[in-house]
Amino acid sequence: MKKIAVFASGNGSNFQVIAEEFPVEFVFSDHRDAYVLERADKLGVLSYAFELKEFENKADYEAALVELLEEHQIDLVCLAGYMKIVGATLLETYEGRIINIHPAYLPEFPGVHGIEDAWNAGVTESGVTIHWVDSGVDTGKVIQQVRVPRLADDTRKSFEERIHATEYQLYPAVLESLGAEKR
Ligand code: GRF
Repeated sequence: MKKIAVFASGNGSNFQVIAEEFPVEFVFSDHRDAYVLERADKLGVLSYAFELKEFENKADYEAALVELLEEHQIDLVCLAGYMKIVGATLLETYEGRIINIHPAYLPEFPGVHGIEDAWNAGVTESGVTIHWVDSGVDTGKVIQQVRVPRLADDTRKSFEERIHATEYQLYPAVLESLGAEKR
């Protein structure tokens, strides 16, 4: 059985989709007031929250994360809207066991504004990517990616909704392909 932890900074809709389908050992948020923590409570999923600014530096912050992951014997860390670059301390111990979802077809439109950047570039299609996490920003080896069209009558909102709906399909599919067992 693969033990999964999810890291999310804010809304947590991807976390919710994952937790509804798979047993999640815990969710971590780097913001104490993130909505994802309310979602976790409602779903009965254990949650932790602490912030980088509460530590001397990023290495100490990530050392606290590694401790949590080891304590719970986590096999796979799923980043889902975790808005920090994973640093050396976490990678040293967990590289090869951390995946991320990105709302564009990498290597197209990396970075925090993947949807907006694709929209502004006027693409006819974008996509969703799940990849292994390395020290770069959205640069790790792709596990799976799918195309999402931008339709002629799309608004920015409808385009964004189609991307998110695709994320909610792709994350569970990738977790299954990596050997995670459903509830
Ligand atoms: C998703 O679009 C994800 O791809 C990106 O951040 C967003 C998080 O949304 N990395 P949510 O917090 O899961 O609702």
